[in-house]
Amino acid sequence: PTLKPVITIDGPSASGKGTVAALVADKLGFHYLDSGALYRLTALYALREGVSWEDAHGVARLAAQLPAAFRDGKVWLDGNDVSAAIRAEDIGMGASKVAALPEVRAALMERQRTFLTPPGLVADGRDMGSVVFPRADLKVFLTASAGVRAERRYKQLIAKGESANLDRIQLDISERDARDAARPVAPLRQEPDARLLDTSALTIDQAVDQVLAWFAAV
Ligand code: CDP
Ligand code: CDP
Repeated sequence: PTLKPVITIDGPSASGKGTVAALVADKLGFHYLDSGALYRLTALYALREGVSWEDAHGVARLAAQLPAAFRDGKVWLDGNDVSAAIRAEDIGMGASKVAALPEVRAALMERQRTFLTPPGLVADGRDMGSVVFPRADLKVFLTASAGVRAERRYKQLIAKGESANLDRIQLDISERDARDAARPVAPLRQEPDARLLDTSALTIDQAVDQVLAWFAAV
């Protein structure tokens, strides 16, 4: 490992990236970058500022000066706690729309790299290993079957006391995955140098232990 080691965890929606990445960061005492939150924040900010998700220049301008912060385990926008608001399914959909715009991805690039400070970083998203941190010490492509992912998202919503419909979630997830994989810029896909971790039949602890074991061996 280098002086500022990086572990990237990319993969499709609801595969467990965020949960596993945060726990690995915790175990190692590393910083954690939830890059999806930046795209979700951008979508929410555009909505609140009345800028259409299709307006590439308008959204990129907002992304470049996103008044966002990650503090006390919460996500803030303009001084307001938006931790719950950015997790809404329609904001996830908006995030995948603005994330397909090259101008928006460029506007968020530098900001993502500033998260890399000693003692190291665990970053999760879609293009952490392919674009943002191409020289990462360990790259993981974390996935699970579509059925398992939809069920996990469903349980997550029910646990939060929200109403949820499994068929609707299946549709949302597959629409978002298809858009993320089909876009010309930074598409969702397993890089040749990324290790595949299929968590369909793994507990969270087993997935975390696998990533830690791989990292210990690099
Ligand atoms: O970040 P991403 O959308 O990939 O997924 P997540 O929000 O971290 O995980 C989705 C849900 O799956 C969470 O409720 C996790 O606790 C759960 N999960 C699981 O049950 N088993 C795993 N091996 C990984 C995640
Ligand atoms: O939690 P979930 O995996 O469903 O989504 P997320 O990681 O919060 O990301 C929301 C959306 O942002 C994704 O559907 C992607 O379109 C986009 N995204 C991206 O393009 N690149 C990243 N590095 C992270 C997220």
